[in-house]
Parts: sequence; C-alpha cells; structure tokens
Amino acid sequence: MNERNRSEEYWLAKARAGRIPVHVGIIMDGNGRWAQSRGLKRHEGHRAGVQTIRRCIPAVLELGIRHCTLFVFSTENWKRPQEEIQFLFKLILDYCRDHKDELIENGVQVVPIGRWRELPASVVRAVESVVRDTTDGSRLQLHLAINYGGRQEILDAAVELAKRLVSAGQVDFEHVTQEDFAGCLYTKGVPDPDLIIRTSGEKRLSNFLLWQGAYAELVFTDVLWPDFGPVDLYKSVVEYSSRSRRFGDVTEKRG
Ligand code: IPE
Ligand code: IPE
Ligand code: MG
Repeated sequence: MNERNRSEEYWLAKARAGRIPVHVGIIMDGNGRWAQSRGLKRHEGHRAGVQTIRRCIPAVLELGIRHCTLFVFSTENWKRPQEEIQFLFKLILDYCRDHKDELIENGVQVVPIGRWRELPASVVRAVESVVRDTTDGSRLQLHLAINYGGRQEILDAAVELAKRLVSAGQVDFEHVTQEDFAGCLYTKGVPDPDLIIRTSGEKRLSNFLLWQGAYAELVFTDVLWPDFGPVDLYKSVVEYSSRSRRFGDVTEKRG
C-alpha cells in the first residue's frame, strides 16, 4: 500500500516503534488561510483550530508524550484587528471553561506560560480556574503559551535573575550559569522541547521558545492547523525519530 493512504493505526504503531519526544511544541498556524480558502471569515478558522486541539490531545496521550506546548497567542498577535483579538480571547475562555472536564478525564494538567495575566479579567479567571482544577493531571502537562513571546520571556528572566542576585547580595556575576538563567524562565523545571512542529508551510519560529528550542528538531508541514490530526502528529514523530541528534558532538545522542 502507498504510505500516504495508510491508516491511523499504522502511523501510531510506526511512531511508537521509534523514539518518542518527551516535549513537543506546536506552532498552530494557518487558521486564517483555512477559513479564507473556504470563503469563511478568519474566525471560523480559529474555531476549527480549537477542535484540532481537542482531536490531537488523545493522540499526544497515545504516544506517551509528557509535555506539549501549544502556541495560542503571541506577543506580536496584538497587531491584529481588535475584533479578531477579542474573538481569540473568547475562544481561550470558552476552551478553558467548556472542555475542562475532558482535560480532567484525560489526566491533563494545564500550565499557562507567557504574560497571560495581562488578558481581560474574565479570560484570566477562566485560565486560573482550569489550572486549579487540573492540578492532579499526571499524564500530560499541557503548556498553553498565551500572550507569549520568546524575547519577552528572556527579558523577563534576565530581570528576575538580576533581582534574585541583588536580593541575595551576590555581585559575583561570573558564576551565573545557564541553569540559573533557565530557572528564571516561564518554563522552569520543564524539559526543553525535543520537537517543534509548525503547520501551514511557514518555516520560522515567530518568537516561540527561543531559548528552550536551541536544540529542538523542527518539523514543518504544509497542512493547515484546522486540517491537522492524529496522523499528522504521528508522522511528525516518525520524522523526528529519523533525525540524528548530536547536540554538537560527532556521534548521535539519545533523547
Ligand atoms: C494561527 O493561525 C492562529 C494564531 C496565530 C492565533 P493564523 O491566524 O495565523 O492563520 P494564518 O497564518 O493567517 O492563515
Ligand atoms: C505564530 O503564528 C503565533 C501563533 C501560532 C500563536 P503567526 O501567524 O502569528 O506568525 P507569523 O506572523 O506568520 O510569523
Ligand atoms: Mg499565521
């Protein structure tokens, strides 16, 4: 059979037979183009994109991936029309409220990253509520990057580290390590992403996990986010598994 027409079970088995990333980051792109190609408003693409998230979480769990970071709203997305921004905020609110039970049933713990507290109060409350109610989720940490920007995160970490050093009376800057710095990032304690997937054919990071993604394997797919599904996720993991990760060394390293 042609590889393209293989079933979901085939791709799941193939992905499982290889190396499974501990942490996968996803730049969910192409909602607007998906809608426009159907003669719909961009909003409809975002709405469909939420369904993709719901469809993909069980697939992430099937693979035993422990951390998944979804790029939900970037610090640059404030440049969009007000109406679109407000719609995106409403979708975040609705997702946190309406699908909380599904997240709990699936053993998912929601962990937001970014300057999400700067969103409207109703959205902040909905995020806080899903965070509070999913703290027992032990199968998957779902990191939602909301009002997230990698440069902002690095700047915030630099300020945080400086504050810590000053308050500890430490002026001996030479001994500051990368671990000290990483401990001030939004993602402190979370392993770096092994794999970053971007949909919609764009081949850039757009300010996503700049520090953490230093050695991530990048997989770009032309599939638009609303069309993405378990098979695309499994294929991305198969692709990841085929890469030789050397981390600067001359021989392949596990991980
Ligand atoms: C991704 O889809 C969703 C967000 C960035 C919030 P886009 O809205 O960027 O879709 P395109 O890139 O315009 O098709
Ligand atoms: C990246 O997508 C941000 C999110 C997916 C939330 P964008 O569509 O905003 O990125 P650019 O503008 O194409 O770089
Ligand atoms: Mg886009």
